[in-house]
Amino acid sequence: MMTATMPASAETAPAPANALRIGRYEIDPPVVLAPMAGITNVAFRRLCREYGAGLYVCEMITTRALVERDPNTLQMITFDTDERPRSMQLYGVDPATMRDAVRMIVDEDLADHIDMNFGCPVPKVTRKGGGSALPYKRRLFGDIVEAAVRAAEPAGIPVTVKFRIGIDDEHITHLDAGRIAEDRGAAAVALHGRTAAQRYSGQADWTAISRLKETVRSIPVLGNGDIFSADDALRMVAETGCDGVVVGRGCLGRPWLFRDLQAAFAGKPVPEGPNLGEITRVMRRHAELLADHMGEQKGLRDLRKHMAQYLRGFPIGSDLRHRFGLVSGLAELDDLLGRLDPDVPFPSDAEGPRGRQGSPGKVVLPEGWLDDPEDASVPVGAELDHNGG
Ligand SMILES: Cc1cc2nc3c(=O)[nH]c(=O)nc-3n(C[C@H](O)[C@H](O)[C@H](O)COP(=O)(O)O)c2cc1C
Repeated sequence: MMTATMPASAETAPAPANALRIGRYEIDPPVVLAPMAGITNVAFRRLCREYGAGLYVCEMITTRALVERDPNTLQMITFDTDERPRSMQLYGVDPATMRDAVRMIVDEDLADHIDMNFGCPVPKVTRKGGGSALPYKRRLFGDIVEAAVRAAEPAGIPVTVKFRIGIDDEHITHLDAGRIAEDRGAAAVALHGRTAAQRYSGQADWTAISRLKETVRSIPVLGNGDIFSADDALRMVAETGCDGVVVGRGCLGRPWLFRDLQAAFAGKPVPEGPNLGEITRVMRRHAELLADHMGEQKGLRDLRKHMAQYLRGFPIGSDLRHRFGLVSGLAELDDLLGRLDPDVPFPSDAEGPRGRQGSPGKVVLPEGWLDDPEDASVPVGAELDHNGG
């Protein structure tokens, strides 16, 4: 039988006073699945959606690949028929390509919400001036946001903007980015409380979310970074006053976090973590959904990256753990799942931070990038023509 615990802060931290409204959509509970390249495909989103309501953002889609109708990209923008709003994240560095991509989305009815990625810290992206390097160029950033907003407007599609605190401690941009996005018509902004230089290391600075909330007054501010439990989400709202939370690594191998978040925001007790038998069923479901989306071979290969997260902390032995990491078909998966003891309870050391952490590093930028924040010229070679990373 499942027991439930009231998170310590659930009694003191009320849910946000107003429901989260993003354009014409009410998001209740005010919870967003963070876009994660290689993770938040239609299969993973469905798995999460089966646990609770919220807004579930797809993997990042590069505008160039979309307008060029790259077949891989067209497969990546698959949504379930009952998925509403269909939420697509775009990466772009060029107002014109951004406009064309959003026009295509509108004309072909491909999505209901657009999020924009200005947070990617990957060196191959920042080196060219893309992702988390771009908000430093205030005018260019504003022009890209406005291009998306204007193209989306006729269809009533809200555009939201996701960014980091800045490039590094000497080049902080989040308050400017929030003000500019608000002025240019964004429907909400989301802040990951780290600089690009931090990548995923250290702790997210939630006070930066508070400052952004004080600065951006007319649209919702979403907080992101280091929510690994329902209690963390309530705490972020209580500490920062943010209008909603964006949850990434915390749900890796733990899609039931969305059930916990729904309960916590409703002031209800949060269920205890599932036992190994229940996790077996979740892994099987994830495998089926991936196999439906990509075919069995590719889907099961994709599942491998989730295995360590699902099995984290369970005493199953290194040999079996290793074999899960190499699984290549549904029959083999069933055989391995059959070897697990369903009665093992959820281990306490599976709580806390999970997913990529890495170490901080100097952000590589194009030559002269920091010289003129008002330079609106499009960075050369930063328009990725493929997805991923
Ligand atoms: C594997 C992985 C892929 C990611 N891909 C994207 C992406 O495509 N677009 C984006 O805006 N952020 C991306 N992120 C960042 C997350 O959306 C989120 O901002 C970050 O993980 C911090 O939130 P968390 O502490 O809840 O994980 C990615 C993060 C991870 C771990």
